[in-house]
Amino acid sequence: MRVHITETVLRDANQSLIATRLPFEKFKDILPVLDRAGYYSLECWGGATFDSCLRYLDEDPWERLRKIKEACPNTKLQMLLRGQNILGYKHYPDDVVRKFVEYSVKNGMDIIRIFDALNDFRNIKVAVEETLKWGAMASGTISYTTSPVHTLEAYAKMGKELEEMGVSTICIKDMAGIMGPKEAYDLVKALKETVKVPIVLHTHSTTGLAPMTYLKAIEAGCEVIDCAISSFSGGTSQYATESMVYALRQLGYEVGLDDAALKEVNDFFKPVKNEYLENGTLNPFVLTTNTDALNYQIPGGMLSNLIAQLKAQNSLDRLDEVLAETPRVRKDLGYPPLVTPMSQMVGVQAATNVLVGERYKNVSKEVKSYLRGEYGRAPGEVDPELLAKVLGDEKPYTGRFADTLAPEFEKVKAELGDRAESDEDVLSYIAFPQIAEKFFASREEKRNRTMQYTVERID
Ligand code: CO
Repeated sequence: MRVHITETVLRDANQSLIATRLPFEKFKDILPVLDRAGYYSLECWGGATFDSCLRYLDEDPWERLRKIKEACPNTKLQMLLRGQNILGYKHYPDDVVRKFVEYSVKNGMDIIRIFDALNDFRNIKVAVEETLKWGAMASGTISYTTSPVHTLEAYAKMGKELEEMGVSTICIKDMAGIMGPKEAYDLVKALKETVKVPIVLHTHSTTGLAPMTYLKAIEAGCEVIDCAISSFSGGTSQYATESMVYALRQLGYEVGLDDAALKEVNDFFKPVKNEYLENGTLNPFVLTTNTDALNYQIPGGMLSNLIAQLKAQNSLDRLDEVLAETPRVRKDLGYPPLVTPMSQMVGVQAATNVLVGERYKNVSKEVKSYLRGEYGRAPGEVDPELLAKVLGDEKPYTGRFADTLAPEFEKVKAELGDRAESDEDVLSYIAFPQIAEKFFASREEKRNRTMQYTVERID
């Protein structure tokens, strides 16, 4: 049997270990080797990479994508997209989602992994449709979590719904690294019994379960797994590519990766990793195994946020109460998966309930919008008392929220005028207005500087 591997060093490993601070110049020389290593795909764009390029790296994310594509013509490039939220947390109108997908594909994207934080697939449908329309692969994604409503039957139903939507593969996304080997086996098996499209599994090494989880998922029929080259693996990143390849080969699986190329990639990234360790961007703590997520059933990142939040309010002694309140809030909200932004919303609400001394006396603006149905459909039933307390007589919106939004792309394009040099610029601006504006100004300034320099040289 063949197992395919996606390399995440350029996106998720970069995002999880060094806050997405890897500039193009630092990895460009290894791209030809990554291209001939034989990966299923290179995850290299989307998620936080786009924001980070504009905000910290002074790079045009679109140009970065084109340059990666040019250096890697033989390997599929892959990105992560939050469905109707594209790369952020608010809902965008359909025309923006469509343009974003169109230009992602036109600039070199081959596989778009599309997810919704609540698994409300009405929020990924437009992106899936558009991806397929432009000839790329759409990986329909299930955000994995555990709760009384997230049963195998519920997941199988989700798989069916995705397959009917026409997705090319189904990805199980365990963003918190909480999936154990038995859960992986049972879930992949349930999906395999329900759908025909290939199954992809994404997990993190945070809790240390990842290699066992991958192995059992593969035994149940999972075709593709996400790994990171060993120097950028482990902890909050993915499990090591080379170790997984080694183990799988011993067990008789075909992995189709070139060991010499993998070694070259790893040797290239070793000094890069050391540089980030030395300058403090890579905190060695994130490389260790942290089982808190298993004890508390909340993602590691959410726990550290809660601790920071309580510390800031001089209330760290209330942590145990907040940790007990967190699952109650999650239940009241209908068991949303604890992925951004739901993890923050649930955590802040639990802390507020404890510190104020009365549950839901103060409710955040975000939780109110969630209760109004603006994020999508909750996985389970939202507590009716909570709904009545917060919304009064107002009925929650049950439609698809993007249907309430007016088209935006042409309007913004006209407003930007020649500040935007391309449709890609317009999309950068729509996604991150202030940061894109600053980036456009700095690009202009740099260009003027170069022109002056050129003039001086001619004189
Ligand atoms: Co991830």
